[in-house]
Amino acid sequence: MARRWWTFPLLLVSALAPSFSLADLAFENTAIVRTIELGGSLVHVSTTYAVKALEPGQSTYQIAISKDERAKTSWLEVKVKGRTTPLELSEDESSTEHLLSVSLPKALGVNGTLNLVLETVQTHATHPFPEQATQKEPQLLKYTTDLFTSSPYTTLVQRTKIKSLAPNVISYTTPHDVDSFARDGTVTRSGGTITYGPYHDTQTDADFMAKYQQPISVHYSFDHPVLEIETLRRTAEISHWGSNLNIEDKIHLHNAGPALKGHFSRLEYQSQNYHRKQSPHILSDFALHLPPGVTNAYFYDQNGNVSTSHLRAAPSVAKGSKAIQYSVLELRPRYPVLGGWNYSYTIGFDTPLQDSVGYDAKNGVYMVGVPVMTNIAGTVVNDAEVKIILPEGATYVEFVSPFPALSSSMSTHISYLDTTGRPAVTFTYKDLTYKHTGIIYVSYQVPLSAHLKKAMSVGAAFFSLFAFAFMARRVDLKLHKK
Ligand SMILES: *[C@@H]1O[C@H](CO)[C@@H](O)[C@H](O)[C@H]1NC(C)=O
Ligand SMILES: *[C@@H]1O[C@H](CO)[C@@H](O)[C@H](O)[C@H]1NC(C)=O
Ligand SMILES: *[C@@H]1O[C@H](CO)[C@@H](O)[C@H](O)[C@H]1NC(C)=O
Repeated sequence: MARRWWTFPLLLVSALAPSFSLADLAFENTAIVRTIELGGSLVHVSTTYAVKALEPGQSTYQIAISKDERAKTSWLEVKVKGRTTPLELSEDESSTEHLLSVSLPKALGVNGTLNLVLETVQTHATHPFPEQATQKEPQLLKYTTDLFTSSPYTTLVQRTKIKSLAPNVISYTTPHDVDSFARDGTVTRSGGTITYGPYHDTQTDADFMAKYQQPISVHYSFDHPVLEIETLRRTAEISHWGSNLNIEDKIHLHNAGPALKGHFSRLEYQSQNYHRKQSPHILSDFALHLPPGVTNAYFYDQNGNVSTSHLRAAPSVAKGSKAIQYSVLELRPRYPVLGGWNYSYTIGFDTPLQDSVGYDAKNGVYMVGVPVMTNIAGTVVNDAEVKIILPEGATYVEFVSPFPALSSSMSTHISYLDTTGRPAVTFTYKDLTYKHTGIIYVSYQVPLSAHLKKAMSVGAAFFSLFAFAFMARRVDLKLHKK
């Protein structure tokens, strides 16, 4: 959808502008305002460009992002301010900075203006500072970015606001050598918000950047656990016979907050719980939103069933109608997960097949929708693999991922009562966030012969069971006669 640009590097742009050492005269930025909302695993950045065209017929606007920042950006989208549909983008990685070419909804004439908003989610952009903390100490993180927002165009005025949820900001960088651009001070602080600028008449070209660009850091306190799912292995298995979709997630979770200094004290932990002053870096429990109609939910770790989970299942909702309610699975890991600690576990559940599989009788095509993942609020999934196992004998398999996957492949999965094995499609992804909770669609056909084969193999299994029981019985009878 909105991310088609990934597959099309804009060759034309890269040929014309290998790097923008001279300001491009097609546009001018009347103003750039960047707002950074600090988090733990995730940081939101929203940048508004007030754009004015200087030449006629301008339909492509370029946004520059440093390579460093692009590497941290796991999701991005550009919209006209106040609109809901994202604009088409293409990315060009060949110049010194990463360029996004945005197709404007209509060409701008001379002096035509537009407000564009670039929204991004960054992952792995903060780190604990100091790297270790005792159970009682606060959780302090550090975030670093560039002072100036660069652009191929002249920028009349720009400003960056960095917001911490908690007002106790420990420290922040005071920029140097920028007094000549700052009429009202180079940086100001109000509660948890640090404002850099406004800075006037910044050229933002390569010479300017070489001279004035500099890193700025904010050191702040963050009151929620910093969670990373190092690996997610999701298996979704479709059973036409059981009329069931089973989803199972194997998860390796890591608390990326400051590593625990010293020993874990359960007494301290319980007393903090008692006073409702739980340390922000300890994960005690969390909740998952599962689809309506969930049954047979399970949760186990290396030591077996974890009995401290609780499922509130919402009633099943037929495919196509809008789910009004989620089922909520509350999970309490076997032990509190402290900074630097890991927790590996498996959860799984069943949903009625008709909630996620549709059948087009005219063409004989089934279509299944499987969510990429179940989001845990505020987490990043570093490495995900989603495997969708289709019914035995399924053919003409086609699939589409809601956003580009790192890879997708087909294989054959063989399980109990299978004769030829089941086709499976596997997708891999990295750095997923709550922006990536889309649905993978897979379509397939199941020829009648495959249905019959399955019936025969199930029938054969029952028959042999029956035959065994029958013989056992006869043996048994004989024994009794004796
Ligand atoms: C654009 O704006 C400038 C300054 O306001 C003005 O001098 C110029 O005539 C305008 N051009 C057009 C084509 O409207
Ligand atoms: C696992 O724990 C849950 C409680 O969350 C319980 O309902 C379920 O019966 C247990 N399963 C097994 C196999 O012990
Ligand atoms: C947690 O897992 C990571 C790799 O996933 C490993 O490097 C680290 O040593 C583990 N931490 C502990 C405390 O076991």
